[in-house]
Order: sequence, then C-alpha cells, then structure tokens
Amino acid sequence: MRRHSTHSPGTDRTHVPGAGRVPPGPPRTATFTLLRKLNWDRLGLMRLAADGYGDAARLAIGPKVLYFFNHPDHAKHVLADNAENYHKGIGLQQAKRALGDGLLTSEGELWREQRKIIRPVFQNKRVAQQAGIVADEAASLVARLRAAGGGQPVDVVHEMTGLTLGVLGRALLDADLGAYEAVGESFEAVQDQAMFEMVTLSLVPPWVPLPKQLRFRKARRALQVVVDQLVADRAERSYGRDDVVSRLVESTRREADPRVGQQRMRDELVTLLLAGHETTASTLAWAFHLVDRHPEVRERLHAEAVDVLGGRLPVYEDLHRLTYTSMVINETLRLFPPVWLLTRLAQQADEIGGYAVPAGADVLVCPYTLHRHPAFWHAPERFDPERFDQAAARSRPPYAYIPFGAGPRFCVGNHLGLMEAVFVLAMVSRDLRLRSVPGHQVVPEPMLSLRVKGGLPMTVYPAPGAAAAPAA
Ligand code: HEM
Repeated sequence: MRRHSTHSPGTDRTHVPGAGRVPPGPPRTATFTLLRKLNWDRLGLMRLAADGYGDAARLAIGPKVLYFFNHPDHAKHVLADNAENYHKGIGLQQAKRALGDGLLTSEGELWREQRKIIRPVFQNKRVAQQAGIVADEAASLVARLRAAGGGQPVDVVHEMTGLTLGVLGRALLDADLGAYEAVGESFEAVQDQAMFEMVTLSLVPPWVPLPKQLRFRKARRALQVVVDQLVADRAERSYGRDDVVSRLVESTRREADPRVGQQRMRDELVTLLLAGHETTASTLAWAFHLVDRHPEVRERLHAEAVDVLGGRLPVYEDLHRLTYTSMVINETLRLFPPVWLLTRLAQQADEIGGYAVPAGADVLVCPYTLHRHPAFWHAPERFDPERFDQAAARSRPPYAYIPFGAGPRFCVGNHLGLMEAVFVLAMVSRDLRLRSVPGHQVVPEPMLSLRVKGGLPMTVYPAPGAAAAPAA
C-alpha cells in the first residue's frame, strides 16, 4: 500500500539537524531479499521503496543503509537547496576509478573551476552552432537505416550509440570517433564495473583478479589511449579556438606538474564522452520503442516532421517548431530517464521532510519513481506525450520531473542532448518506420544509465509516402 503526500512537511531549519523521525522501511530480516533485488532488480527495489513506504524510506542492506526520498520537495532539498551538503554517492564514487576527477564526479573548488571552464561550451548560442553537425549526422543515420530497409533487423541501440558518439566527436572534439572502435566497448566495461562495485557494496577489493576487474582495467587503458591521441591530434590545431579541447588545454597548462595537467585532461574528456553519449542514445532507443507501440503518436510525429521540415534538414530554429516531437521526447525521458538514480553522500547530519539523515548516509533520489509518483502523474505508466503540453507542464511542481537533475549539478549537456533527440526522432519519423521484432522482449537494464537490455532489434520500412532518398 503506497503512502505518499502531495505536501511535504518541508525542512524547518530551526530543528536540530538530524533530529527528525527515522524513515519507515523493511525490517533488518529483509536484508537478503533487498540484496537480491539490488543485484537483479534495482528498479523493483526502488518501486518497493516508493510503493511500500511512500515519500521516504530507509533500506537497511547488511552494513549499508540507503535513505530513499521520493517527493519533489525532497529532491529540491537534496539537489538544490542544500546541495552543498550532498556529494556524489554510490555508483559515481565507484565510477571515479575510471572517470577520475572529471566534472561529473569532482567536488568543491575543483568542480566549480571545471564547471566554469566547460559550461560555456554548452550554452544555447554554442549549441545553435552545432545544429548543422547534428542534422548532418542524423541524415547519415537515416541513410544507413534506409540501406537496411526491409531486410535483417538493425540494433537501434547500436545505431543510436554510433550517432551520439559521432555528434560528440565532431561537436566537441572536432574528431571522427567512428575511427575509435574501442570507445563504446570500453564504456560498457567501465559501467559494468561501477555497477558490480555498487551491488556488492564495494565489499570486493579492486585488486581481486576477477575477469570483470581485468576487463575494466583494459578498458580504462584503452580510453586513456584514445583520449591522449585525440588531444595530441588537436594540440597543434587548438590555437585561437574556443572549443572544449582548447579550453581544457589552456586550463590544464597552468598546472605546475604536467602529469597532473595530463591526467585532468584525460578525466575531463573521458567524462564528457561517457556522460554525453549513452544518455542520449538510450533516450532515442526508448523513444523508438514507445512510438512503435503507439501508432497514433507515430502518425502525428510523421505529420509534424513533414509539415515543419518538408524535404530539408532541420536547422536550430526548427526546435521550437517541432513541438509534438519535443513532447514525445519529454514523455520518453519521464518513463525511461537515462539517469534513473541520483545518489548522494550526506556530509553533515540533516533533516529532509521531517526525517533524520545522519552524516555519512547514502541518499537516493530516483527520477524513475519520482516520474511515476501518482500524486503528480495521472495513470503514470501510460505513455502520453500530452502531459508535456505547455499548460499541463506548468501545473506540475518543477521538481516532479528531473531527467537532467537539478540544482548546481544540473546536466551541462541538456541542450545538446535534447536537440539531438528531437532532430533524430523527427528525421527518422519523416522518412522511415521502425517496427519491433515480434516476440522480442524489451527490458530495461538499470546500469549507470537506463539501458535497453541486450539491444533493441527493429526492422526498417520506408514511411508511407516518404521520398525514396533523403534530402542532402
Ligand atoms: C538526454 C540526454 C541526457 C540526460 C538525460 C542527462 C542527464 C544528466 C543528469 C541527470 C545529470 C545530473 C547527475 C547528478 O546530479 O548526479 C547530468 C550531469 C551531467 N551531464 Fe548530462 N544528460 C544528458 C546529456 C548530456 C550530454 C549530451 C552531455 C555532454 C556532452 C552531458 C554531460 C553531463 C555532465 C558533464 C554532467 C555533470 C555536470 C556537473 O556535475 O556539473 N549530458 N546529466
């Protein structure tokens, strides 16, 4: 039985921090069940917390206690109002072994400095300049898919990953990442390891020679080689530019020890590649899956794309005209938020919604369950892009929908990610129809991002009435 409220008691700052009530939760004897769920059914574990205990739950799993919060006010408190108190938590701490101190995992002064260097590259004006690259890569994708038309199914996850790596390479690094086969594979090994450490609660030391650990180390080395090559290739061409590599070259050059500078550079670039490609690729894969199951949505997408784009490639200004396509992407991000879990580590004791949070507590805010909170979302499991009609969206508390996080650690790449997703969905919907393979089960796999387990095979057909060849 779900217990929740539309109104949180809020955080009365006159209270002694940590003096609130203990959140409800399963008894200690449930440890084995919870541990099994943490290993095999992480989304189920989050649902169990939200459905069984409401807006706050305490999950004691062996020596670890997880504090789960599932109300927009709680999300606001942890991610924005008292963000200083909450450093990045489980999963990301483990990912640090691969990502080092990049923007996603760093804290404090270092993070502030990095954000100042990187953020300008992702601002609206810059993203507008990248629209041509995104449209170009999307056109190549459509051509590739068209070539596979009617034949063997294509793996949509694989195709979307290629697309987003291609965009990142060209938009951020001025490089062809297609030339670096190792990139996608290496990120898989990195995620695998981070998840393994998370679900075993880091109880297996990293020096134990498990095959996973060895694969992880190999992947980490491969990523470093790729990044070093990219940087070396760009070093001579960075003069007078103001893109991400040039800004990083400039800032890391100031490090007294060149080895520290080189490591920072690696960490930043590996982080941007990881944070920037799989999130957008998963969003698109989930969108194609959902659209295939809702023919009325597919028809509207096709009609809008024909109406707005005609036979040409999209330009930045089209983003505001492709309103229904944007609504479909927003609804996809609600049901399948790529960053399905935000983990934090409480630095000091605190109180959230009247509940005590001790110093050192692992705090979880879960976009996957928050986006299904029945007090804010009617029939939450239903795929309904109309929820993102402007009037409907305005009537919801802002922190009920947080696919890009919130507060100071809000995603830096959200404009780029959204533009990619909208352009690709529009162009594919205009020209093609992707149909699922009968009998194939589509199952979410919550790793560092919410993936489609085992890929997404779909068969490609031309859209009815679509031109035989794409516009150049
Ligand atoms: C649909 C696509 C995307 C989604 C859903 C998404 C989601 C998120 C979320 C939820 C966070 C906050 C994590 C936290 O608070 O712990 C985040 C942070 C971040 N994202 Fe994204 N992201 C997307 C695309 C991108 C792209 C395209 C890039 C870059 C190329 C990017 C780079 C980053 C970085 C560097 C951070 C860390 C920011 C910081 O901590 O200051 N993301 N993203």
